[in-house]
Amino acid sequence: MGVDLQSLEKIPRHVALIMDGNGRWAKERGLSRIEGHKEGAQSVRAVLRAAAKAGVEFITVYAFSTENWKRPVLEVDGLMKLLVSSLNAYEQELHDNQIRLRVMGQFSRLPLLVRKRLQKTLDATAHYTQHTFIIALSYGSRMEIADATRQIAEKVKTGELKSKDINEQTIADHLYLPDVPDPELMIRTSGELRLSNFLLWQLSYSEFHITDTYWPEFREEHFFQALEAYNARDRRYGGIQKR
Ligand code: FPP
Repeated sequence: MGVDLQSLEKIPRHVALIMDGNGRWAKERGLSRIEGHKEGAQSVRAVLRAAAKAGVEFITVYAFSTENWKRPVLEVDGLMKLLVSSLNAYEQELHDNQIRLRVMGQFSRLPLLVRKRLQKTLDATAHYTQHTFIIALSYGSRMEIADATRQIAEKVKTGELKSKDINEQTIADHLYLPDVPDPELMIRTSGELRLSNFLLWQLSYSEFHITDTYWPEFREEHFFQALEAYNARDRRYGGIQKR
């Protein structure tokens, strides 16, 4: 039986996803890895639709890590091309559902064509406020924290900030998207129990939902099941359970 969205008491504002298992999904079917990524792009679309249906405001997907540059050139090129073709395919849907696109990561490291294509959609959707789709691209969380630290150090150097005033909020304010709330839920597909340098700071208090389903098979029903599992959890932030 499917998940009844009406029965869910709480819907997370922000869900982050590690989309793993594209390669294994393809291998099991005798397909190329890029075929796995292509099918995975369909799952991204399905999750965006499902999130809009459920009322989730922010979706962040880990599309390309700083470590992913080490993959064979053919696969990196294929992923960059897929990103461009996916944006072409999704653009209308982003407008139909009033979804704002944002990116986080080393934007300048991306090929010029990809940057230009992204910029077009970033600009065209910048005025939407209800839903946000964040793509982590050439992203690494340790790098993000190092970048934040450098900015803070510069401010201390110029006197804009005093070192005694640095607190948790100061760090949070210097991350790539400081205005985005921390994800309440992180979903990882294909069964690995790792964070893989994804949103280390932001996921400090998040619930984790790990599913064995490969990313290319992860669709609306799986997303709703994750929301259901999240509802069954009790978030205490280190406090005492309320009865
Ligand atoms: C991990 O699977 C997946 C990736 C590194 C890429 C994810 C990218 C997409 C789904 C492309 C579309 C994205 C957007 C935002 C349009 P893997 O290759 O590591 O799988 P494996 O562990 O089974 O080898």
